[in-house]
Amino acid sequence: MKRRVAILISGRGSNMAALIEAARPKDFPAEIVVVISNRADAGGLDRAKASGIPTVTIESKPFGKDRAAFEAVLQTALDQHRVELICLGGFMRLFTAEFVQRWFGRMLNIHPSLLPSFPGLEPQAQALRAGVKISGATVHFVIPETDAGPILMQGAVAVADADTPDTLAERILGIEHRIYPEALRLLASGQVRLEGDVCKTLAKTNPDDTLISPATE
Ligand code: GAR
Repeated sequence: MKRRVAILISGRGSNMAALIEAARPKDFPAEIVVVISNRADAGGLDRAKASGIPTVTIESKPFGKDRAAFEAVLQTALDQHRVELICLGGFMRLFTAEFVQRWFGRMLNIHPSLLPSFPGLEPQAQALRAGVKISGATVHFVIPETDAGPILMQGAVAVADADTPDTLAERILGIEHRIYPEALRLLASGQVRLEGDVCKTLAKTNPDDTLISPATE
């Protein structure tokens, strides 16, 4: 049986689109049963509809700081769609510890840096300011702290001297679209185990696993 997945978005939804595309084949172990946005103007909603995925909009603004009230409505939508796993794809609203606890081990997020470096806003600009030569993207389980939690998968890119936050973001986004579906595949097929703060998987280590930046002669 395929695991039933909700994708939560706030914006353009390119990771959402990558997950929807990846989940199409019959042998993918998860199906995207609903896309939920906390903003009516999220571009991803049209993309989801065009792909034939049901969408739900729950505007979070009217709830102000009452996160629990927003989450009660969200939980009802998740229950209605019998959701088993949640993927956050650029979902820009913080959760209460209670909601996170309820979904612990079943809710993933993607962040455009090699966590635990550069959590929070503008991680690509943070990476450039720090002068790192390698950056990337991280898929992790959600815990109450923002952009933290057991790491399921990471992908790396070389950082060039000429990079701007935008050029780096574009390259990292390409990695995001590759690793998020693979991380979901591992989780949905039961190949993931949590040991305290650490996530272990049955997946192999990539044999082509060396990235040196800048390139050597
Ligand atoms: C992605 O780069 C994602 O990693 C980032 O928001 C973007 C959403 O793009 N998420 C975070 O920064 C979470 N802290 P998308 O809507 O095209 O998927």
